[in-house]
Amino acid sequence: QINPIRMACEKAIHVWLARVHFRVFFTPQMNKSTFTKIEENRPEKENAASEKGRAAIVFSLKNEVGGLVKALKLFQENHVNLVHIESRKSKRRNSEFEIFVDCDSSHEQLNEIIQLLRKHVNVVEMDPPDNSCRPIPEEDIENVPWFPKKISDLDRCANRVLMYGSDLDADHPGFKDNVYRRRRKHFADLAMNYRHGDPIPRIEFTEEEVATWGVVYRELNKLYPTHACREYLKNLPLLAKHCECREDNIPQLEDVSRFLRERTGFTIRPVAGYLSPRDFLAGLAFRVFHCTQYVRHSSDPLYTPEPDTCHELLGHVPLLAEPSFAQFSQEIGLASLGASDESIQTLATCYFFTVEFGLCKQEGKLRAYGAGLLSSISELKHALSGNAIIKPFDPKVTCKQECIITTFQDVYFVSDSFEEAKVKMREFAKTIKRPFTVRYNPYTQSVDVLKDTPSINSVVEELRHELDIVGDALNRLNKHLGV
Ligand SMILES: [Fe+2]
Repeated sequence: QINPIRMACEKAIHVWLARVHFRVFFTPQMNKSTFTKIEENRPEKENAASEKGRAAIVFSLKNEVGGLVKALKLFQENHVNLVHIESRKSKRRNSEFEIFVDCDSSHEQLNEIIQLLRKHVNVVEMDPPDNSCRPIPEEDIENVPWFPKKISDLDRCANRVLMYGSDLDADHPGFKDNVYRRRRKHFADLAMNYRHGDPIPRIEFTEEEVATWGVVYRELNKLYPTHACREYLKNLPLLAKHCECREDNIPQLEDVSRFLRERTGFTIRPVAGYLSPRDFLAGLAFRVFHCTQYVRHSSDPLYTPEPDTCHELLGHVPLLAEPSFAQFSQEIGLASLGASDESIQTLATCYFFTVEFGLCKQEGKLRAYGAGLLSSISELKHALSGNAIIKPFDPKVTCKQECIITTFQDVYFVSDSFEEAKVKMREFAKTIKRPFTVRYNPYTQSVDVLKDTPSINSVVEELRHELDIVGDALNRLNKHLGV
């Protein structure tokens, strides 16, 4: 039971390494060869030409009899020991399949093998091995929009709010209420003065604010059993247990932040109002969720033109306590770092129709997981009424849909699960133009920019260590079971 799992993981790493390292492109010579494309990976100890190390080569073959035998014979004739070999259907050309070969060879031997393989092909494009380890040019990295590299960098962008404080629009329910506007200014100042690492200020909510919260809490809780997804229903009671979330008490963001950190590593950061999509999504990359702390105006408890603490706490928090959802949210955030304005817009739209207005299917029934729905009685009812237009979530389609702020959405998007949505978003994120990819480092709460082979190799080393742990766990389990 152990070896196949271990091998599968290690193979995945080898194949991946082979892809990211050295690439040499070939094309078939007319009627001469079956080989069309070769990618090579130099030995680990590249400075010692005769010293043996692990090397990997990936080449593609036309789907015909004998091609693989011819190729493997070259390794035998050169006394190169094959450690591992596997094949798969080519993703590039339907008529071909790809061979991955893992071997023990010196750099010298590897060069010879590559030369021999080359005799079967015409080279039309080539990246010599020495080129392949060049990092991405610094200017390419510097030309992308600035983004936070470590969690404290959020101090530089968390205060760039689009609307905040007492600057309410004329149609805002609290526009003519000077007491409310002063209160909003107080919340805005607290958020603007907040810095990473500070405890979130505790608020003594007024009776009026608690009463407004109470109406929202009571009415929404009537709908949740039949409208909210199961993950939401599982986590909502935890919020009551750990953060005193009750009809007569508004939870403190500091308590909520501590609760989330223990569940999924997410933390809360107070914010004065709407952030730009770029800044908001950047927070998600660090598992930081920007939360407003003010309460909507009491004149209309069931309506707010902007996110307020009722929306954050009842809409977002229960799902941020769910590991799969937390990861989904973070992946959208990571995809946004350094992305162009156009890409940010597409990601923000996908975020809007999932994290804010997403639906899923559970036991054959539609359920809501979007916070915009789970904090709005009327829209929650509408979305599941059978009258709303509902389409399958597909980032390529969803990202073109118009986001509506002032009334119900024209369309809602449904996923089978967060896992399915995550896989789709992951694929979509790969299409975003960016000269590098990033990886979150939870130990340093920073983002590693994977721009050269050393940075990629360090990730592989970590993965190998993780695999060792899995292998060790399986060994111990097998011993325990007497296998
Ligand atoms: Fe929201």
